[in-house]
Amino acid sequence: MKIVDLSRQASALNHFLSQLRDVNMQNDRLRFRQNLKRIGRVMAYELSKTLSYQEQAITTPLGVKQAALSGDRIVVGTVLRAGLSLHEGFLSVFDDADSAFVAAYREEGEGDSLKVRLEYRAAPCLDGSTFIMVDPMLATGGSLVAAHRAFLEAGTPKHLHICVVIAAPEGIAALQKAFPSDDVTLWTAAIDERLNEKAYIVPGLGDAGDLCFGEKI
Ligand code: PRP
Ligand code: URA
Repeated sequence: MKIVDLSRQASALNHFLSQLRDVNMQNDRLRFRQNLKRIGRVMAYELSKTLSYQEQAITTPLGVKQAALSGDRIVVGTVLRAGLSLHEGFLSVFDDADSAFVAAYREEGEGDSLKVRLEYRAAPCLDGSTFIMVDPMLATGGSLVAAHRAFLEAGTPKHLHICVVIAAPEGIAALQKAFPSDDVTLWTAAIDERLNEKAYIVPGLGDAGDLCFGEKI
């Protein structure tokens, strides 16, 4: 698995991410979701540089101009709930993309005993697609690995990209084990220090789903 850590190059992305992390700002839910969307847009733009492009003639009112356009069939797949705002950011760049959803949540438990439960999946055919899985938090990696397994029932993509906002080293190791080959790319806006005993990312930002939508019971 290839890893692209977008924080290695200072950009506006770090500004959006700092607002997500900041305890004095992150309780503004609208801003929190907006920043996830902004990060989604930036990541989608960076990822778009890796797609395949063909020259096409575009007719303007005054003439014809050649433009390199991508014909890749993109599917953006999201892990509910916290992935929704990031997903919207991706769709604002890949406006013709299809969407796939899976509901996954981490059940109570600690460390290795943490169980991920999947309850709902809706996906188009993934055969031959460029499949972009998005989820803001890569902690143990359990949710993304389980979600990928569920999505595979809908077909085999040509390329797989996994896009997260904050990755823990433990989650990266889990994905490296699940995706050893070089044709899978992990995109992240930051790599943090570690997981705590409740499998939350430190320093991280807290519970992304709750910060977007409120505490769940
Ligand atoms: C969060 C996040 C990921 C998962 C990451 O979801 O959106 O899906 O945790 O953790 P993992 O790498 O250890 O699996 P959460 O379970 O909090 O559900 P929510 O989005 O409904 O709040
Ligand atoms: N899910 C979150 O929302 N935050 C974490 O730190 C880990 C998993």
